[in-house]
Amino acid sequence: MKVLGKECKHFEPFKYKILTQLKQKLSELNLALDFNDDLAVLKRSLSIGNKSIPNRLAIQPMEGFDAKRDGRPSFLTVRRYSRYAKGGAGLIWCEATSISEGYKSNQHQLAITKENVDEYRKFVSHIKKISKSALEQLGFSGQCLFILQLNHSGRYCKKGDTKYPIRAYHNYQLDKAINVSEQDGKIIEDSELIALEEKWGEKALLARDAGFDGVDIKACHGYLISELLGARERNDSLYGGYDFANRSRFFLNVIKKLKKRCFKNGDFIITTRLGIYDGIPYPNGFGVAPLEGEEFPASIDLTEPIKLINELDNLGIKLINISAGNPHYKPHITRPYDIPVKGANLPSEHPLCGVYRLIKMTSEIKKSISEEIKIMGSGYSYLRQFSPYICADLIKNNEVDICGFGRMAFANPEFPRQIFQQDEINPKKVCVGCSQCSQLMKNGKSTGCVIRDPAYEVKS
Ligand SMILES: Cc1cc2nc3c(=O)[nH]c(=O)nc-3n(C[C@H](O)[C@H](O)[C@H](O)COP(=O)(O)O)c2cc1C
Repeated sequence: MKVLGKECKHFEPFKYKILTQLKQKLSELNLALDFNDDLAVLKRSLSIGNKSIPNRLAIQPMEGFDAKRDGRPSFLTVRRYSRYAKGGAGLIWCEATSISEGYKSNQHQLAITKENVDEYRKFVSHIKKISKSALEQLGFSGQCLFILQLNHSGRYCKKGDTKYPIRAYHNYQLDKAINVSEQDGKIIEDSELIALEEKWGEKALLARDAGFDGVDIKACHGYLISELLGARERNDSLYGGYDFANRSRFFLNVIKKLKKRCFKNGDFIITTRLGIYDGIPYPNGFGVAPLEGEEFPASIDLTEPIKLINELDNLGIKLINISAGNPHYKPHITRPYDIPVKGANLPSEHPLCGVYRLIKMTSEIKKSISEEIKIMGSGYSYLRQFSPYICADLIKNNEVDICGFGRMAFANPEFPRQIFQQDEINPKKVCVGCSQCSQLMKNGKSTGCVIRDPAYEVKS
């Protein structure tokens, strides 16, 4: 799949004050994106199984690294989610929550356990109450759908505060990107993977008990499941190699085992945030083409992602949150930005092209799969105050079902309310793509918007 032309091979920061300037730039870059100023489509509800999402705006999972050491939400966690709920989004996708307490990505990552599930129950009930009242005020009925993302951090695990990569296979480039050597951490063994297959199901039962509407088996951004999907150089393993059935075995087994445990009546959603293209050069990587193409950094081939989604369809998955890239390796693929984190180079790609790639890959997926699967798209924050008009157009044309915002929600959690009440996002409150939230994350600190939220600052 060819998405971007040579016009995209340069970097330029965002400088468009009015829509005509942005349209002019898109045309220069040869990017066909349309805008629709009738935002009513964003107010439409959407059914997933027995559940309903009151509107088409969602909060993407964004790690806050502010949990208590035992994994329960802290004051700061509750503050973040309360702000999202007050904003009126129809779906709140709770951030990466560790399924492997011994190897979190940060000591303050969320983790749901038998011991702290009561705290999660209070948390969920509090957030849903706020959401219900905000949504009612905005003229919607019901409350937000609240999904919990369950993740094994894989290559990005830490043992205490020390990096301890639990890899699917060796990859020098990926090691170099996070400054670890081949001797650090380990390659996960098949026997360990077999034992882990049950873990998501155990945690999903706790999540259901806590009142979440569903769980996301996270399969994106280079973490364990995502890495296995592209692990062609994992040799002599049930879970790797060139055979796609091997590389997808772990993910599908996790879902099959989870379903067997408890979810017969369909009122608890099993979903996934799926990375459809990780940008890691072939022979490894998922959604990448066998030959290095013209496109940086690896050509796109969505054949396997589509095949995988068809298998997920057979397993009854009805909602998928699409993402791409590995933010520890080539972050601009996941989240186009204007300023990189400290020490990183600017990508040699126009950020609007990165947004376009995410949008067009998502549309391609949407048109290639069953209508019954609802698709949430990612990466709209870079479009700032112009994002709602693109989302409205995409939804109207059935190119995506729900638009999820990450950094915009850190910067301006009221963005859905602004869209629903004023038909616009306040330009003075948008995310500016400065990567300071990612810098906080990289520094191991609690994460939020340094520019717009007084609760956060970057200390060097
Ligand atoms: C600080 C930070 C934390 C993130 N945490 C998560 C996470 O927990 N799970 C996840 O799937 N994606 C995570 N992401 C990725 C976002 O959900 C989102 O895909 C990305 O920021 C692009 O969307 P945006 O342009 O709306 O920000 C994170 C991104 C940032 C910047």
